[in-house]
Amino acid sequence: MRIKYTISIVFFVALVIIEKENNIISRVSDKLTLKQTPQTPLQPSSFSHILPKHNASITPLKNDSAFTLMKRRLENYSEHQEVMTRGRKHILLLATTRTGSSFVGEFFNQQGDNMFYLFEPLWHVEKMLTLDTGGTNATASAKAYRNVLQQLLLCDFSQLESFIDPLPVDHITTALFRRESSSSLCEESVCSPFVKGVFERYHCKSRRCGPLNLTMASLSCLQKEHRAIKSVRVRQLETLRPLAEDPRLDVKFIQLVRDPRAVLASRMVAFAAKYKNWKEWASGGDIPIDDDEVRKLKGNCDNIKMSAEIGLRRPQWLRGRYMLVRYEDIARFPMRKAAEMYRFAGIPFTPQVKSWILKNTQASKDTSGVYSTQKNSSEQVEKWRFSIPFKIAQVVQKVCGPTLKLFGYKFVSSEEMLTDKSVSLIENKVFNVL
Ligand SMILES: *[C@@H]1O[C@H](CO)[C@@H](O)[C@H](O)[C@H]1NC(C)=O
Ligand SMILES: *[C@@H]1O[C@H](CO)[C@@H](O)[C@H](O)[C@H]1NC(C)=O
Ligand SMILES: *[C@@H]1O[C@H](CO)[C@@H](O)[C@H](O)[C@H]1NC(C)=O
Ligand SMILES: *[C@@H]1O[C@H](CO)[C@@H](O)[C@H](O)[C@H]1NC(C)=O
Ligand SMILES: *[C@@H]1O[C@H](CO)[C@@H](O)[C@H](O)[C@H]1NC(C)=O
Ligand SMILES: *[C@@H]1O[C@H](CO)[C@@H](O)[C@H](O)[C@H]1NC(C)=O
Repeated sequence: MRIKYTISIVFFVALVIIEKENNIISRVSDKLTLKQTPQTPLQPSSFSHILPKHNASITPLKNDSAFTLMKRRLENYSEHQEVMTRGRKHILLLATTRTGSSFVGEFFNQQGDNMFYLFEPLWHVEKMLTLDTGGTNATASAKAYRNVLQQLLLCDFSQLESFIDPLPVDHITTALFRRESSSSLCEESVCSPFVKGVFERYHCKSRRCGPLNLTMASLSCLQKEHRAIKSVRVRQLETLRPLAEDPRLDVKFIQLVRDPRAVLASRMVAFAAKYKNWKEWASGGDIPIDDDEVRKLKGNCDNIKMSAEIGLRRPQWLRGRYMLVRYEDIARFPMRKAAEMYRFAGIPFTPQVKSWILKNTQASKDTSGVYSTQKNSSEQVEKWRFSIPFKIAQVVQKVCGPTLKLFGYKFVSSEEMLTDKSVSLIENKVFNVL
């Protein structure tokens, strides 16, 4: 009996090696080599926790023909699994505000019929969890963000629904934030008949649709080969570790960063009311380094840096799943960087994306609107240097110094250097983590 179990384990391990291409199987093998010894027969329970969605009916081995049976079942299983997730990728584009994430998100939004793209679904979660103080409980929101993202990547909108205000009725909502920014939510199959007199703030621009039916969105999502979500709300990459380890997902994290000095300059324009203090400091007076606003800036920089450090350290759970991209590189070499992102994600770079990039990275007369993604992106990269005073740049350098260093943003030592266009502040840096 013992010999037989030993043989079966050896056989199984061999099978696993053959099947190494298949993510799921190799994960199973990891668990098995840890947990199974020849004395313990393979129990269905040792699979059930790894394969929660399946009744993978792998029974204890009873006799010789069990080898064949098991082999066939495994083949059956991996075939089934392949049909479900053959090459399916789940992309999370993680950024902070004013880093060009809407623009970069379009690289995936424009992919075409194979992609289900969502723009800032966590907006609802953050809004719902905002406390009277104006902030959120970082622990509680991180958990909610993770759960909602995990479900959405599986095309399940139910948790998100519970955060939409007003609560959707029969899975119908007129309140989904920036619906029109996800082409997936405005395509034919997700477009219910237009209803006269019903106001939907973020209605589709590409066609006239009625309020969003989230069941239709979910069904459409399930049909798509790949899924992508962009978010500026996740603070720590590590909080998303369970997604990387979910065998139902093949998650690719793309962290988008930008020079914190440029981000601040951009926020002072885009969120003028919130950045009132900075504007005052810009026009005169000393900057109190222990001010709440300055501390917040430091907190943001530290979070971004910590996430990147984890990614660049390549822990086992992130291997092949993390890519760091600087906005400045995308703005200067959009086509090249987009191609790199697609290569990293393991998704074909479509002609639609290419033509969108060509159209949208050249000088455009119409650049109105703070969320506009239509800009001469090369020019955009350096603009901030003429919009913030040197002393503000100095404060950012002081509190975000390690972040600037990590990403290769050069410090400026004088007003002249700040505004000298012949001096680039972007060091060439390759973040090789593949
Ligand atoms: C798994 O098997 C159990 C018991 O046989 C059954 O009740 C359940 O519906 C099955 N689940 C699925 C997803 O097939
Ligand atoms: C041996 O395995 C086969 C399935 O391949 C099964 O039909 C048969 O009943 C098993 N025999 C014993 C003695 O367990
Ligand atoms: C494999 O799948 C086919 C159909 O999907 C089924 O008829 C067959 O019994 C399965 N074989 C095993 C060993 O589970
Ligand atoms: C934040 O939320 C967590 C769990 O949701 C709770 O344990 C903790 O006390 C909260 N922290 C604050 C400061 O409210
Ligand atoms: C929403 O879409 C689903 C799937 O197409 C449909 O069954 C349901 O009736 C729709 N809901 C409403 C209220 O029209
Ligand atoms: C974009 O701006 C840069 C810098 O000002 C300029 O060199 C370039 O020609 C512009 N691109 C287009 C397509 O106009």
